[in-house]
Amino acid sequence: MLTRTHTKAVTLADLPPVQNDSLLALIGLAAADPRNDKIDVGVGVFRDAVGNTPILKVMKEAEQRLHDTQATKAYLGSWGDRRFADLLRPILLGEHAADERISGVQTPGGCGALRLGFELLATANPDARVFMGTPSWPNHAPIIRAVRLEMVEYPYYERGQGVIRFEDMLAALRSAEPGDVALLHGCCHNPTGADLSESQWREVTNVVVERGLIPLIDIAYQGFGRGLDEDAFGVRLMLSSCDEVIVAQSCDKNFSCYRDRVGSLWVKTGSPEATATAMSHVFQRAREMWSMPPDHGAAAVHIILDDPQLRAEWLIELAGMRDRINAVRQRIASADPRLAFIGKQFGMFSMLPVGKEQVLKLREDDAIYMADSGRFNVVGLGDDQIDRFIAAVVGALEA
Ligand code: LMR
Repeated sequence: MLTRTHTKAVTLADLPPVQNDSLLALIGLAAADPRNDKIDVGVGVFRDAVGNTPILKVMKEAEQRLHDTQATKAYLGSWGDRRFADLLRPILLGEHAADERISGVQTPGGCGALRLGFELLATANPDARVFMGTPSWPNHAPIIRAVRLEMVEYPYYERGQGVIRFEDMLAALRSAEPGDVALLHGCCHNPTGADLSESQWREVTNVVVERGLIPLIDIAYQGFGRGLDEDAFGVRLMLSSCDEVIVAQSCDKNFSCYRDRVGSLWVKTGSPEATATAMSHVFQRAREMWSMPPDHGAAAVHIILDDPQLRAEWLIELAGMRDRINAVRQRIASADPRLAFIGKQFGMFSMLPVGKEQVLKLREDDAIYMADSGRFNVVGLGDDQIDRFIAAVVGALEA
């Protein structure tokens, strides 16, 4: 009689714990702090002058209309709401909106778009390497690892001076091979706020074209920096110059619908036929991961963008968020010469030249919650918290 001897099976109980994503852990830590004067500049959500993250008025109105008129919740398919993607096209693509080589699909947030975009790249070329400037959004590297693409990191930011290490960036991209991927931040760089200027975008685009790279542009904050069109400059320049481009877009911030997870993935190839084939892979990957994207938030965005009155009101609300971000930046920047760099950056984030020890001390002594990296959310601050924040940070810089 045959007997089988089992060595000890690997079971779920053998799994080592995973370190919590530090940004998500911060949400819990800040919430649990009982101090009344705590300041949460951790995770990236817009807050108004009194520290709230309100639902946009246009979103409330669109949700009401959705509630009143939606007749079914039957499946839409892996592509989600096609009209949602059609309405986003001109906002993101500008003069490229009519280009039939570009196709877009709804995704669960910008993170879903990134995962789907990297899945497509890995399907097409598992040997492609992804060139990523550091620091970057802490979830970029895990997503790239999840699709098993090799990652090449290069230094993007000179933290002490608050500037981009542009020559290092160019040198890294020049060392890439045809078919490698350049991961770029479309605007409002997360975590540093240090965006490429238009002339730097031109230089980067030239290198991307010369080296035959595929740009994957993450644009999660369109409209939070300088304006909808200005913030899409890099995306549109790459679309003008490259045959193959991938764009991961998010509405979570510019429609303030974070937890509803509204985003889209855009793929450009050299021909409408090749794009259609690439999209068949996109739909297959989406089917494997989430089957179909969640509808509610995208359906509300669809209602806003499809109604001229609501669209106009959205633009006003978006400009209001942008103006607050820039006003808080200027207020912090003018408080101390060592913080002046913050006034020249864009979007919600900036990175202070402080080490983890100082970050933890700010947390303990001053109840100020920022990412371990020194990244802080500029508009995490209510108006009445700004002076205390500045004083504590200046104290930390002097320590
Ligand atoms: C952030 O960077 O704080 C946001 O994009 C939230 C997240 O998912 O990390």
